[in-house]
Amino acid sequence: MEAANGPRNEALAESDLPNMSSQPPAVSVRSLTRVFEPRVRRGLRGLLPRFRAEPAEPKRIVAVNDLDLEIAPGHCFGLLGPNGAGKTTTVKMLATLLEPTSGSASVAGFDVVRSPRQVRRNIGVLFAGERGMYWRLSGRENLELFGTLSFMPRERLRERIEAAAHRFGLEDRMDDLVETYSTGMKQRLNLARATLHDPPVLLLDEPTAALDPVAAREARHLIRQIAEAGTAILLTTHNLYEAEQICDRVGIIQSGSLVAQGRPADLIRQAGEMPRLDLLLRGDLGTAKALIGSDGLWWGEVNRDGEFAVAVRAPDGWRSSDALTSTLVSQGIVVEEARLREPDLEDAYIAITGSRIERPFIER
Ligand SMILES: Nc1ncnc2c1ncn2[C@@H]1O[C@H](COP(=O)(O)OP(=O)(O)O)[C@@H](O)[C@H]1O
Ligand SMILES: [Mg+2]
Repeated sequence: MEAANGPRNEALAESDLPNMSSQPPAVSVRSLTRVFEPRVRRGLRGLLPRFRAEPAEPKRIVAVNDLDLEIAPGHCFGLLGPNGAGKTTTVKMLATLLEPTSGSASVAGFDVVRSPRQVRRNIGVLFAGERGMYWRLSGRENLELFGTLSFMPRERLRERIEAAAHRFGLEDRMDDLVETYSTGMKQRLNLARATLHDPPVLLLDEPTAALDPVAAREARHLIRQIAEAGTAILLTTHNLYEAEQICDRVGIIQSGSLVAQGRPADLIRQAGEMPRLDLLLRGDLGTAKALIGSDGLWWGEVNRDGEFAVAVRAPDGWRSSDALTSTLVSQGIVVEEARLREPDLEDAYIAITGSRIERPFIER
């Protein structure tokens, strides 16, 4: 398995990069920056006697700082980052809801500042926590309303609604009121609404944040299908598993700046992450420490049964594991449990951002 990984990934890395020579990028962002200046509070200040200290001066916030990225048609780009990192601000600028302070962005070939109307016609948008639908109308009525508001011709709208009902698995419920829908169905209807006019670019701000695991999985599957059909997708999330599952490329955003971007597999490699072996051992701790040496990443306490856990660097996967466990056994250490864990995007994220989150060890 290890042999298959190296060269194949290199080849993929080449061919998988957005090919800008044959197709212009669907989304192109250059040095995009947004600063929120402190608001001057006028109001009653100065008129009232001062009983308390003035509130702290509001600060200038650089919400998005010098962002560069490109998304090719049919690709899904995941913008990953903690709360307050600048994800929603980025989406709002691309959706023409906020003007950039500096830098530029184009969507489907149109500049977000100079041609906002054309941009809006070419995007579908879904914001986190947005209600987005009239709950007292049926699914069909909602789609008819949004389609009419975006000036879709009647015949085309009818066709698109039929196609959306089928694609998003809502055929049987299209004439029921949205308030009777499950959360997952509401989100599927939201996706149907965002893609109704078949936009070449879809902007999804935390599309699965409010969903239960089953609904989130459905939504991920649908989002992947939409990308496969040729739509360029910008998706924000703080769910690393989600990003690794559905995004072709991801960018890690921290305090407004993109600190890394690439294919999930490349980021994992760049971060220097390697497989880790979790062992549960019994025997003499000193002997085990001497044998494992500096490959030991983390040591647990010895419990009442004389067992202790250790996490070990395993650069060659199972080969490292086999070599180490036979050495341990030959020196009288009992290997109660051995688990190899491949590095994932979460490991890379933690390494890149310097966050300190300990992963659960062997759970007992
Ligand atoms: N309208 C606004 N006025 C002032 N500050 C804002 C405004 N919108 C967002 N911010 C600030 O910009 C930063 C980025 O916010 P946001 O883009 O919403 O982050 P995220 O979506 O990654 O959680 C945060 O510090 C937030 O408080
Ligand atoms: Mg947000």
